[in-house]
Amino acid sequence: MNTPDAASRIATPRISPAIASAVAALGPGPLREEALRTHIFPLFSRILKRPGIYLANHSLGRPLDQMSSDVQAALDAWYRDMDNAWGPWLDELHSFRNNIACLLGVSRADAVVPKTSAGQGLRAVLNALPSPAPRILTTRGEFDSIDFILKTYHHRRRADVTWIEPHTTPDQPPRFRTDDLIAALAREHFDLLVVSPVFYATGQVLDDLPRVISAAHAKNTLVLLDCYHAAGVIPLALESLNADFAIGGSYKYTRGGPGACWLMIHPRHLTPERDDNNHEPPFRTLDTGWFAKRDTFKFERPEKPLLAHGGDAWMEATPAILPLYQAKSGLELTLALGVERLRAYSLEQLTFLEATLRQHNIPTRRGGASPEHSGAYLLISHRDTTAFCDRLKARSVIADARLGNARFAPDILTTRDELTAAAAVIAESFASGATA
Ligand SMILES: Cc1ncc(COP(=O)(O)O)c(C=O)c1O
Repeated sequence: MNTPDAASRIATPRISPAIASAVAALGPGPLREEALRTHIFPLFSRILKRPGIYLANHSLGRPLDQMSSDVQAALDAWYRDMDNAWGPWLDELHSFRNNIACLLGVSRADAVVPKTSAGQGLRAVLNALPSPAPRILTTRGEFDSIDFILKTYHHRRRADVTWIEPHTTPDQPPRFRTDDLIAALAREHFDLLVVSPVFYATGQVLDDLPRVISAAHAKNTLVLLDCYHAAGVIPLALESLNADFAIGGSYKYTRGGPGACWLMIHPRHLTPERDDNNHEPPFRTLDTGWFAKRDTFKFERPEKPLLAHGGDAWMEATPAILPLYQAKSGLELTLALGVERLRAYSLEQLTFLEATLRQHNIPTRRGGASPEHSGAYLLISHRDTTAFCDRLKARSVIADARLGNARFAPDILTTRDELTAAAAVIAESFASGATA
């Protein structure tokens, strides 16, 4: 693929001036509601016109106004420039890879490959493993898309999958134990471990991930992390963590809508970006296409496929362009605000909501043993979560539910007044059904 030279591939955030100056106006230090209202809320004027209290930010994130003008700019380039639109489109592809690398704490932009779903990223890795039926270790807590793909490979005998069960107690959400994963890794050999650092249904943050990764590597097991509920929520340093692969996407916490997803391959698994000795890459996936060729636009067709250097060898066929523009503004805002500050603010909001609900005698739960071991939302257990969420929706409080728990995620656009009002509605709606 034709990409910028190596020097420009060292990942440092690329942030457009409007977002950079709005965030700079907040000043340094912790995020505060007053300053967010003054400087950041105006970037969201369209979505903030919607009535109601939106607490499903963990499901579909709210877009900036800029999102639609970015997509429009991509389309305008097409109308105006036809073939020449590929210039700005491919620049945007590079910016997306670069900014996701920054979000994940990875030094090389080419270590990130765009995908249209997280599941597509998983399949690219499964289809790169040398064994025709690799042994996979995973948990019962992986999201449906990932679980379904693994079950499909398992039932078609294209993989041999072992699932770790959660521990359940009556008054806590089901939790996965690091020691169970480590014991399974020690017991038998697996080719790949697939696990979420933050579990989708409960928000549990998996304890002691470095220990899990070391235990896997000690037995030559590769590790793929599903970071959909972690990226943009908790600070990540995947390169130093030594995760082999990671998948995720933009439609939740980075406000990028569906279709802008990614696969990260640890830089140590990539050939040098300029490889004069033409080393073979350590992994070659079957999920390939002409954007993975050594020089996409030279149109050469040697009998043995000649792969691009570095992470470009993991590209596929013609990439989807509009999702990159859709994802641009939300990703830039996340990077400009900084995941550390977003996390601290989210924890404050969750603590406030929890305390307010307690005043209404509504018991809440966290996915992990403490707020720090839990993701970006609060849980309320209910016998009939669907009816509970429907009652909330009828009163314009938007939440959702998974596996017996309703999930409530404020974000930087949620005010304390909204949390106070939502708590009262939650209490009234909760009362019409009993706890599980
Ligand atoms: C943990 C996790 N992984 C993956 C996905 C989405 O997977 P896909 O992009 O394959 O549909 C989600 C969506 O909710 C998720 O929560």
